[in-house]
Amino acid sequence: MFNALSPAPADPIFGLNAAFAADDRPHKVNLGIGVYQDEQGRTPVLRAVRAAEQRLAERGDTKSYLPISGAPAYGDHVQRLLFGEVQDNARTAQTPGGTGALRVAGDLVAQTAGPTRVWLPSPSWANHQQIFAAAGHEIQTYAYYDPARTGLDEDAMLSALATVGAGDVVLLHGCCHNPTGFDPSPATWGKIADLAGDKGWLPLVDLAYQGFGEGLDHDVQGLRTLTDALPEVLVASSFSKNFGLYSERAGALTMVGADAARAELVFGHIKRAVRANYSNPPRHAEALVVTVLDDASLRADWSAELDTMRDRITSMRRALAEQLGRTGRDFSFLLRQRGMFGFTGLSPAQVDRLQGEHAIYMVRSGRINVAGLNPHNLDQVASAIAAVL
Ligand SMILES: Cc1ncc(COP(=O)(O)O)c(C=O)c1O
Repeated sequence: MFNALSPAPADPIFGLNAAFAADDRPHKVNLGIGVYQDEQGRTPVLRAVRAAEQRLAERGDTKSYLPISGAPAYGDHVQRLLFGEVQDNARTAQTPGGTGALRVAGDLVAQTAGPTRVWLPSPSWANHQQIFAAAGHEIQTYAYYDPARTGLDEDAMLSALATVGAGDVVLLHGCCHNPTGFDPSPATWGKIADLAGDKGWLPLVDLAYQGFGEGLDHDVQGLRTLTDALPEVLVASSFSKNFGLYSERAGALTMVGADAARAELVFGHIKRAVRANYSNPPRHAEALVVTVLDDASLRADWSAELDTMRDRITSMRRALAEQLGRTGRDFSFLLRQRGMFGFTGLSPAQVDRLQGEHAIYMVRSGRINVAGLNPHNLDQVASAIAAVL
Protein backbone atom coordinates (compact mmCIF):
# COMPACT_ATOMS: atom_id res chain seq x y z
CA MET A 1 0.00 0.00 0.00
CA PHE A 2 2.57 2.58 1.01
CA ASN A 3 5.65 1.50 -0.98
CA ALA A 4 5.69 4.52 -3.27
CA LEU A 5 5.02 7.11 -0.58
CA SER A 6 7.29 10.10 -0.22
CA PRO A 7 7.47 11.83 3.17
CA ALA A 8 4.64 14.20 4.03
CA PRO A 9 5.72 17.81 4.55
CA ALA A 10 5.81 18.92 8.20
CA ASP A 11 2.97 21.20 9.25
CA PRO A 12 4.41 24.73 9.09
CA ILE A 13 3.21 25.72 12.56
CA PHE A 14 3.43 22.49 14.55
CA GLY A 15 6.72 21.73 12.72
CA LEU A 16 8.08 25.04 14.01
CA ASN A 17 7.00 24.09 17.53
CA ALA A 18 8.92 20.82 17.27
CA ALA A 19 12.04 22.66 16.02
CA PHE A 20 11.71 25.10 18.94
CA ALA A 21 11.45 22.24 21.45
CA ALA A 22 14.59 20.64 20.01
CA ASP A 23 16.62 23.90 20.16
CA ASP A 24 18.89 23.88 23.23
CA ARG A 25 19.84 27.58 23.17
CA PRO A 26 18.68 28.88 26.57
CA HIS A 27 17.63 32.31 25.26
CA LYS A 28 15.25 30.88 22.60
CA VAL A 29 11.88 32.62 22.13
CA ASN A 30 8.80 31.04 20.56
CA LEU A 31 6.64 33.54 18.67
CA GLY A 32 5.23 30.83 16.39
CA ILE A 33 2.10 28.93 17.35
CA GLY A 34 -0.97 30.95 18.40
CA VAL A 35 -1.07 30.02 22.05
CA TYR A 36 -1.40 32.60 24.84
CA GLN A 37 1.55 32.92 27.20
CA ASP A 38 1.67 34.94 30.39
CA GLU A 39 4.54 37.18 31.56
CA GLN A 40 6.49 34.09 32.64
CA GLY A 41 6.01 32.44 29.26
CA ARG A 42 3.53 29.88 30.63
CA THR A 43 0.22 28.91 29.07
CA PRO A 44 -1.99 28.86 32.16
CA VAL A 45 -5.16 26.93 32.91
CA LEU A 46 -7.62 29.79 33.47
CA ARG A 47 -8.82 30.27 37.08
CA ALA A 48 -12.46 29.60 36.20
CA VAL A 49 -11.49 26.45 34.29
CA ARG A 50 -9.47 25.19 37.30
CA ALA A 51 -12.50 25.78 39.54
CA ALA A 52 -14.72 23.96 37.07
CA GLU A 53 -12.25 21.04 36.95
CA GLN A 54 -12.52 20.74 40.74
CA ARG A 55 -16.30 20.78 40.73
CA LEU A 56 -16.41 18.17 38.00
CA ALA A 57 -13.95 15.91 39.85
CA GLU A 58 -16.08 16.12 43.00
CA ARG A 59 -19.27 15.50 41.08
CA GLY A 60 -17.75 12.39 39.49
CA ASP A 61 -19.91 12.66 36.41
CA THR A 62 -20.20 10.06 33.68
CA LYS A 63 -17.89 9.55 30.70
CA SER A 64 -20.71 8.15 28.58
CA TYR A 65 -21.29 9.48 25.06
CA LEU A 66 -22.74 12.91 24.42
CA PRO A 67 -25.36 13.27 21.68
CA ILE A 68 -23.89 13.62 18.17
CA SER A 69 -24.30 17.41 18.31
CA GLY A 70 -23.16 17.72 21.95
CA ALA A 71 -25.10 18.92 24.97
CA PRO A 72 -27.91 21.41 24.20
CA ALA A 73 -26.71 23.62 27.10
CA TYR A 74 -23.33 24.01 25.36
CA GLY A 75 -24.98 25.07 22.11
CA ASP A 76 -27.13 27.59 23.99
CA HIS A 77 -24.05 29.15 25.59
CA VAL A 78 -22.31 29.35 22.22
CA GLN A 79 -25.32 31.17 20.79
CA ARG A 80 -25.48 33.61 23.72
CA LEU A 81 -21.84 34.49 23.09
CA LEU A 82 -22.43 34.90 19.37
CA PHE A 83 -25.80 36.67 19.37
CA GLY A 84 -26.49 37.79 22.95
CA GLU A 85 -29.29 35.23 23.25
CA VAL A 86 -30.38 31.85 21.96
CA GLN A 87 -31.82 32.23 18.46
CA ASP A 88 -34.91 30.44 17.25
CA ASN A 89 -33.45 30.20 13.74
CA ALA A 90 -30.03 28.87 14.78
CA ARG A 91 -28.76 25.39 15.67
CA THR A 92 -25.35 24.66 17.19
CA ALA A 93 -23.33 21.46 17.22
CA GLN A 94 -20.40 21.08 19.60
CA THR A 95 -17.28 20.14 17.62
CA PRO A 96 -13.68 19.18 18.44
CA GLY A 97 -12.24 22.71 18.29
CA GLY A 98 -12.72 25.31 15.62
CA THR A 99 -10.90 23.00 13.22
CA GLY A 100 -13.59 20.34 13.73
CA ALA A 101 -16.28 22.95 13.06
CA LEU A 102 -14.61 24.04 9.82
CA ARG A 103 -14.24 20.46 8.62
CA VAL A 104 -17.85 19.61 9.46
CA ALA A 105 -18.92 22.76 7.58
CA GLY A 106 -16.84 21.62 4.61
CA ASP A 107 -18.35 18.12 4.78
CA LEU A 108 -21.86 19.50 5.18
CA VAL A 109 -21.63 21.55 1.99
CA ALA A 110 -19.90 18.76 0.05
CA GLN A 111 -22.48 16.17 1.12
CA THR A 112 -25.56 18.32 0.52
CA ALA A 113 -24.87 20.83 -2.27
CA GLY A 114 -21.83 18.96 -3.63
CA PRO A 115 -18.20 20.01 -3.90
CA THR A 116 -17.92 23.72 -4.61
CA ARG A 117 -15.47 26.61 -4.52
CA VAL A 118 -14.36 27.78 -1.10
CA TRP A 119 -12.89 31.29 -1.09
CA LEU A 120 -10.20 32.13 1.46
CA PRO A 121 -8.70 35.54 2.16
CA SER A 122 -5.16 36.04 0.94
CA PRO A 123 -3.40 35.34 3.23
CA SER A 124 -5.28 33.11 5.66
CA TRP A 125 -4.62 30.57 8.42
CA ALA A 126 -2.51 27.91 6.71
CA ASN A 127 -4.81 25.05 7.69
CA HIS A 128 -7.90 26.45 5.93
CA GLN A 129 -6.64 25.35 2.54
CA GLN A 130 -6.07 21.75 3.67
CA ILE A 131 -9.34 21.46 5.56
CA PHE A 132 -11.57 22.44 2.65
CA ALA A 133 -9.48 20.60 0.06
CA ALA A 134 -9.75 17.45 2.22
CA ALA A 135 -13.54 17.91 2.21
CA GLY A 136 -13.40 17.84 -1.60
CA HIS A 137 -13.72 21.54 -2.43
CA GLU A 138 -11.81 23.69 -4.89
CA ILE A 139 -9.87 26.45 -3.13
CA GLN A 140 -9.92 30.03 -4.41
CA THR A 141 -8.50 33.13 -2.76
CA TYR A 142 -9.79 36.67 -2.56
CA ALA A 143 -7.65 39.81 -2.10
CA TYR A 144 -7.39 40.89 1.51
CA TYR A 145 -4.06 42.28 2.68
CA ASP A 146 -2.11 44.98 0.89
CA PRO A 147 1.58 44.90 1.90
CA ALA A 148 2.18 48.32 0.31
CA ARG A 149 -0.39 49.92 2.60
CA THR A 150 0.15 47.49 5.47
CA GLY A 151 -3.58 47.10 5.87
CA LEU A 152 -6.75 45.61 4.54
CA ASP A 153 -7.26 46.35 0.85
CA GLU A 154 -10.97 46.98 1.09
CA ASP A 155 -11.57 47.88 -2.56
CA ALA A 156 -9.73 44.83 -3.87
CA MET A 157 -11.52 42.58 -1.37
CA LEU A 158 -14.98 43.86 -2.29
CA SER A 159 -14.22 43.63 -6.03
CA ALA A 160 -13.08 40.04 -5.57
CA LEU A 161 -16.13 39.12 -3.52
CA ALA A 162 -18.34 40.64 -6.21
CA THR A 163 -17.07 37.95 -8.62
CA VAL A 164 -18.02 35.05 -6.31
CA GLY A 165 -21.02 33.12 -7.53
CA ALA A 166 -24.14 31.66 -5.94
CA GLY A 167 -23.41 28.31 -4.34
CA ASP A 168 -19.83 29.19 -3.45
CA VAL A 169 -18.63 29.49 0.14
CA VAL A 170 -16.67 32.52 1.38
CA LEU A 171 -14.63 32.08 4.52
CA LEU A 172 -14.44 35.27 6.60
CA HIS A 173 -12.43 35.71 9.79
CA GLY A 174 -14.95 37.01 12.34
CA CYS A 175 -12.31 39.05 14.18
CA CYS A 176 -8.55 39.17 14.75
CA HIS A 177 -7.73 38.05 11.23
CA ASN A 178 -5.02 35.39 11.27
CA PRO A 179 -2.27 36.16 10.25
CA THR A 180 -2.59 39.91 9.51
CA GLY A 181 -4.58 41.25 12.50
CA PHE A 182 -6.53 43.57 10.16
CA ASP A 183 -10.33 43.29 10.30
CA PRO A 184 -13.05 44.90 8.17
CA SER A 185 -14.61 48.07 9.64
CA PRO A 186 -18.32 47.96 10.60
CA ALA A 187 -19.17 49.73 7.32
CA THR A 188 -17.17 47.17 5.35
CA TRP A 189 -19.00 44.31 7.07
CA GLY A 190 -22.20 45.93 5.81
CA LYS A 191 -20.85 45.93 2.26
CA ILE A 192 -19.79 42.28 2.59
CA ALA A 193 -23.32 41.42 3.74
CA ASP A 194 -24.79 43.28 0.75
CA LEU A 195 -22.55 41.38 -1.66
CA ALA A 196 -23.39 38.01 -0.11
CA GLY A 197 -27.09 38.86 -0.41
CA ASP A 198 -26.81 40.09 -4.01
CA LYS A 199 -24.60 37.28 -5.28
CA GLY A 200 -26.00 34.43 -3.22
CA TRP A 201 -22.82 32.99 -1.79
CA LEU A 202 -22.69 31.46 1.67
CA PRO A 203 -20.58 33.17 4.35
CA LEU A 204 -18.71 30.83 6.69
CA VAL A 205 -17.42 32.90 9.60
CA ASP A 206 -14.37 31.52 11.40
CA LEU A 207 -14.39 32.91 14.93
CA ALA A 208 -11.33 31.56 16.73
CA TYR A 209 -10.41 34.67 18.75
CA GLN A 210 -13.64 36.08 20.21
CA GLY A 211 -12.61 38.40 23.06
CA PHE A 212 -9.06 39.00 21.84
CA GLY A 213 -9.91 41.94 19.57
CA GLU A 214 -11.83 44.59 21.51
CA GLY A 215 -14.03 42.41 23.73
CA LEU A 216 -16.51 39.52 23.65
CA ASP A 217 -19.44 41.56 22.31
CA HIS A 218 -17.54 43.91 20.07
CA ASP A 219 -15.77 41.05 18.30
CA VAL A 220 -19.04 39.59 16.97
CA GLN A 221 -20.47 42.81 15.53
CA GLY A 222 -19.36 41.86 12.01
CA LEU A 223 -20.92 38.42 12.37
CA ARG A 224 -24.18 39.97 13.58
CA THR A 225 -24.23 42.30 10.59
CA LEU A 226 -24.18 39.20 8.39
CA THR A 227 -26.76 37.21 10.33
CA ASP A 228 -29.12 40.21 10.52
CA ALA A 229 -29.01 40.64 6.75
CA LEU A 230 -28.72 37.15 5.28
CA PRO A 231 -30.88 34.02 5.13
CA GLU A 232 -28.01 31.59 5.75
CA VAL A 233 -24.71 31.90 7.63
CA LEU A 234 -22.42 29.24 9.10
CA VAL A 235 -20.22 30.05 12.11
CA ALA A 236 -17.23 28.00 13.26
CA SER A 237 -16.30 29.06 16.77
CA SER A 238 -13.59 27.94 19.13
CA PHE A 239 -12.92 28.05 22.87
CA SER A 240 -9.29 27.03 22.37
CA LYS A 241 -7.89 30.54 22.80
CA ASN A 242 -10.47 32.44 24.83
CA PHE A 243 -10.92 29.62 27.39
CA GLY A 244 -7.33 28.37 27.06
CA LEU A 245 -8.79 24.93 26.26
CA TYR A 246 -6.47 24.22 23.33
CA SER A 247 -6.05 20.47 23.89
CA GLU A 248 -9.59 19.83 25.17
CA ARG A 249 -10.92 20.52 21.65
CA ALA A 250 -13.88 22.78 22.43
CA GLY A 251 -15.51 24.32 19.38
CA ALA A 252 -18.90 24.67 17.72
CA LEU A 253 -20.58 24.88 14.35
CA THR A 254 -23.66 27.10 14.26
CA MET A 255 -26.10 27.17 11.38
CA VAL A 256 -28.21 30.31 11.14
CA GLY A 257 -31.14 29.83 8.79
CA ALA A 258 -33.95 31.96 7.46
CA ASP A 259 -36.25 30.32 10.01
CA ALA A 260 -36.25 27.53 12.59
CA ALA A 261 -37.41 24.89 10.11
CA ARG A 262 -34.55 25.60 7.71
CA ALA A 263 -31.99 25.63 10.52
CA GLU A 264 -33.35 22.32 11.82
CA LEU A 265 -33.25 20.79 8.34
CA VAL A 266 -29.59 21.70 7.88
CA PHE A 267 -28.82 20.63 11.46
CA GLY A 268 -29.89 17.10 10.59
CA HIS A 269 -27.26 17.03 7.85
CA ILE A 270 -24.64 18.50 10.20
CA LYS A 271 -25.31 15.60 12.57
CA ARG A 272 -24.92 13.12 9.72
CA ALA A 273 -21.58 14.67 8.77
CA VAL A 274 -20.42 14.50 12.40
CA ARG A 275 -21.48 10.86 12.84
CA ALA A 276 -19.40 9.81 9.83
CA ASN A 277 -16.42 11.87 10.96
CA TYR A 278 -15.76 11.58 14.72
CA SER A 279 -19.22 10.38 15.86
CA ASN A 280 -19.68 12.67 18.88
CA PRO A 281 -17.76 15.44 20.62
CA PRO A 282 -15.59 15.38 23.77
CA ARG A 283 -17.57 15.50 27.02
CA HIS A 284 -14.87 17.04 29.20
CA ALA A 285 -14.58 20.08 26.93
CA GLU A 286 -18.34 20.53 27.06
CA ALA A 287 -18.52 20.08 30.84
CA LEU A 288 -15.83 22.71 31.46
CA VAL A 289 -17.41 25.35 29.23
CA VAL A 290 -20.93 24.76 30.53
CA THR A 291 -19.81 24.70 34.19
CA VAL A 292 -18.09 28.06 33.80
CA LEU A 293 -20.80 29.75 31.74
CA ASP A 294 -23.67 28.40 33.91
CA ASP A 295 -22.22 30.02 37.02
CA ALA A 296 -22.37 33.83 37.21
CA SER A 297 -19.24 34.22 39.32
CA LEU A 298 -17.12 31.79 37.27
CA ARG A 299 -18.33 33.44 34.10
CA ALA A 300 -17.39 36.89 35.41
CA ASP A 301 -13.96 35.62 36.43
CA TRP A 302 -13.44 34.00 33.01
CA SER A 303 -14.39 37.22 31.26
CA ALA A 304 -12.07 39.25 33.54
CA GLU A 305 -9.16 36.90 32.88
CA LEU A 306 -9.84 37.10 29.14
CA ASP A 307 -9.68 40.91 29.43
CA THR A 308 -6.34 40.57 31.23
CA MET A 309 -4.95 38.36 28.46
CA ARG A 310 -6.09 40.83 25.81
CA ASP A 311 -4.67 43.80 27.71
CA ARG A 312 -1.31 42.09 28.18
CA ILE A 313 -1.09 41.39 24.44
CA THR A 314 -2.01 45.02 23.68
CA SER A 315 0.69 46.34 26.00
CA MET A 316 3.31 44.05 24.43
CA ARG A 317 2.15 45.13 20.96
CA ARG A 318 2.62 48.78 21.96
CA ALA A 319 6.03 48.14 23.51
CA LEU A 320 7.27 46.28 20.44
CA ALA A 321 6.02 48.96 18.04
CA GLU A 322 7.73 51.60 20.15
CA GLN A 323 11.05 49.76 20.32
CA LEU A 324 11.03 48.95 16.59
CA GLY A 325 10.08 52.57 15.84
CA ARG A 326 13.49 53.54 17.25
CA THR A 327 15.12 51.84 14.25
CA GLY A 328 13.87 54.81 12.20
CA ARG A 329 11.28 52.68 10.38
CA ASP A 330 7.56 52.98 10.82
CA PHE A 331 6.09 50.09 12.77
CA SER A 332 2.95 51.94 13.83
CA PHE A 333 0.92 49.55 11.66
CA LEU A 334 1.34 46.99 14.47
CA LEU A 335 -0.94 49.19 16.58
CA ARG A 336 -3.76 48.92 14.04
CA GLN A 337 -3.68 45.13 14.21
CA ARG A 338 -5.96 43.22 16.58
CA GLY A 339 -5.77 39.85 18.29
CA MET A 340 -2.94 37.54 19.13
CA PHE A 341 -0.78 38.18 16.11
CA GLY A 342 1.52 40.85 14.76
CA PHE A 343 2.13 40.81 11.03
CA THR A 344 5.61 42.31 10.93
CA GLY A 345 6.35 42.47 7.21
CA LEU A 346 9.59 40.53 7.79
CA SER A 347 10.65 38.46 4.78
CA PRO A 348 11.15 34.67 4.91
CA ALA A 349 14.94 35.28 4.71
CA GLN A 350 14.78 37.62 7.72
CA VAL A 351 12.63 35.09 9.61
CA ASP A 352 15.22 32.38 8.86
CA ARG A 353 18.02 34.61 10.18
CA LEU A 354 16.07 35.35 13.35
CA GLN A 355 15.74 31.61 13.96
CA GLY A 356 19.28 30.67 12.96
CA GLU A 357 21.23 33.56 14.47
CA HIS A 358 18.99 34.73 17.31
CA ALA A 359 16.94 31.66 18.36
CA ILE A 360 13.70 33.56 17.73
CA TYR A 361 11.00 31.44 16.12
CA MET A 362 8.14 32.79 14.01
CA VAL A 363 6.21 31.63 10.94
CA ARG A 364 7.82 32.46 7.60
CA SER A 365 5.01 34.85 6.65
CA GLY A 366 6.50 37.20 9.28
CA ARG A 367 3.61 36.60 11.66
CA ILE A 368 4.49 36.72 15.34
CA ASN A 369 2.46 35.58 18.32
CA VAL A 370 2.52 38.82 20.31
CA ALA A 371 1.51 36.81 23.40
CA GLY A 372 4.95 35.16 23.23
CA LEU A 373 6.49 38.53 24.17
CA ASN A 374 7.08 39.48 27.79
CA PRO A 375 9.15 42.04 29.70
CA HIS A 376 12.01 39.52 29.93
CA ASN A 377 12.40 38.88 26.19
CA LEU A 378 11.10 42.09 24.60
CA ASP A 379 14.48 43.87 24.33
CA GLN A 380 16.09 40.74 22.94
CA VAL A 381 13.38 40.29 20.30
CA ALA A 382 13.32 43.97 19.30
CA SER A 383 17.10 44.20 18.93
CA ALA A 384 17.24 40.91 16.98
CA ILE A 385 14.56 42.18 14.58
CA ALA A 386 16.42 45.48 14.24
CA ALA A 387 19.59 43.48 13.43
CA VAL A 388 17.99 41.64 10.51
CA LEU A 389 16.10 44.60 9.02
C1 LIG B 1 -8.11 31.34 12.17
C2 LIG B 1 -8.20 30.08 12.95
N1 LIG B 1 -9.26 29.30 12.78
C3 LIG B 1 -9.40 28.16 13.45
C4 LIG B 1 -8.44 27.75 14.35
C5 LIG B 1 -8.66 26.42 15.01
O1 LIG B 1 -8.68 26.42 16.34
P1 LIG B 1 -8.88 25.09 17.19
O2 LIG B 1 -7.61 24.87 17.92
O3 LIG B 1 -10.02 25.38 18.08
O4 LIG B 1 -9.17 23.97 16.26
C6 LIG B 1 -7.31 28.52 14.56
C7 LIG B 1 -6.26 28.08 15.47
O5 LIG B 1 -5.15 28.52 15.49
C8 LIG B 1 -7.19 29.73 13.84
O6 LIG B 1 -6.14 30.53 13.99
